[in-house]
Amino acid sequence: MAEPRITSLDGKLAEEFAIPSHVDEVKEQMSDFAGHHVRAGRRVVLITSGGTKVPLESRTVRFLDNFSSGRRGASSAEYFIDSGYAVIFLHRHRSLFPYARTFSTINMLDALQFRSGQGGSGSAEVVVNQQVLPNVPKVLKRYQEVKEQRLLLPIEFNTLSEYLHLLKAAAQALNTIGSKAMFYLAAAVSDFYIPASEMPEHKIQSSNGPLQLSLNMVPKILSPLVKDWAPQAFVVSFKLETDATILLGKARRALDTYRHQVVVANILDSRRGYVVVVTPDTQAELILTEEDVKNDIEIEERIVSNLTSAHNKFINQQVG
Ligand code: PMT
Repeated sequence: MAEPRITSLDGKLAEEFAIPSHVDEVKEQMSDFAGHHVRAGRRVVLITSGGTKVPLESRTVRFLDNFSSGRRGASSAEYFIDSGYAVIFLHRHRSLFPYARTFSTINMLDALQFRSGQGGSGSAEVVVNQQVLPNVPKVLKRYQEVKEQRLLLPIEFNTLSEYLHLLKAAAQALNTIGSKAMFYLAAAVSDFYIPASEMPEHKIQSSNGPLQLSLNMVPKILSPLVKDWAPQAFVVSFKLETDATILLGKARRALDTYRHQVVVANILDSRRGYVVVVTPDTQAELILTEEDVKNDIEIEERIVSNLTSAHNKFINQQVG
């Protein structure tokens, strides 16, 4: 496999975005994970999930955040695993996590109780109240199976810098498995940042008057990912808009610009029940009906089913 090309963006990444100290260790973990699963006959998907954080001070008190609960990434991870993939889950610290996401709105103390007959003494046994958490046994069983088979590799990021460097490391690690890798870029990534060299060290003082910020543009990471870091992989990006009239045009423009395989286009308010999967030659609307919602069907199940078929075709075309 050819060595990834070094671009001017690599230099910019290294100079203006602080490199996380554990990036090489994580790259090795991802590489081992991918190699192990491909040898076992699986495909590997790298899911990005959650929003990036852009600090305004190096000893950070304030930061800009991109909106994303992480639900799309976390639920998609489960459906990919059910479809036979191993998942690298590059997610924002404390955003929704596969399997645990089901319980994210519950206060843990409301879900626990002392075993009947036992008071609240130090040694009393605590059990789950299954009226509050009826699904626990099923979800726990599946989570433990996934852990035992090491099908999920969670990697955390907080800041934009961490996200960019870890995504680059992931792309280079997965380059070794060629077209068997899928990138599912659902994270909400900031378009603006303050370069490390221009960032004030200490907390910005309100006594200095109103704050005026000048932010640089973040380089679009999709470009080197597709061209240089993992050129044989199947790449899916997401396009989020709030204005429905510009959504599909922007999705098509992204495909023209970056030359990757799929854009999943969604509108903020309707994203749980409606997306359009756009490829250079096709456009498929995925819609949940009221009946689907009543039956707890999630749109991510449909997205993942659509993409795993497209990935199959993509791999067969490379081979044929
Ligand atoms: O997490 P949830 O609450 O469930 O919500 C899911 C979601 C709405 C966040 C998700 O479905 C979604 O649309 N994610 C992408 C949001 C986004 O950042 O869109 P964008 O137009 O800014 O970026 C488009 C693509 O370019 C993204 O795939 C992003 O990974 C990529 N990008 C963005 C910035 C950047 N500097 N480089 C990039 O490559």
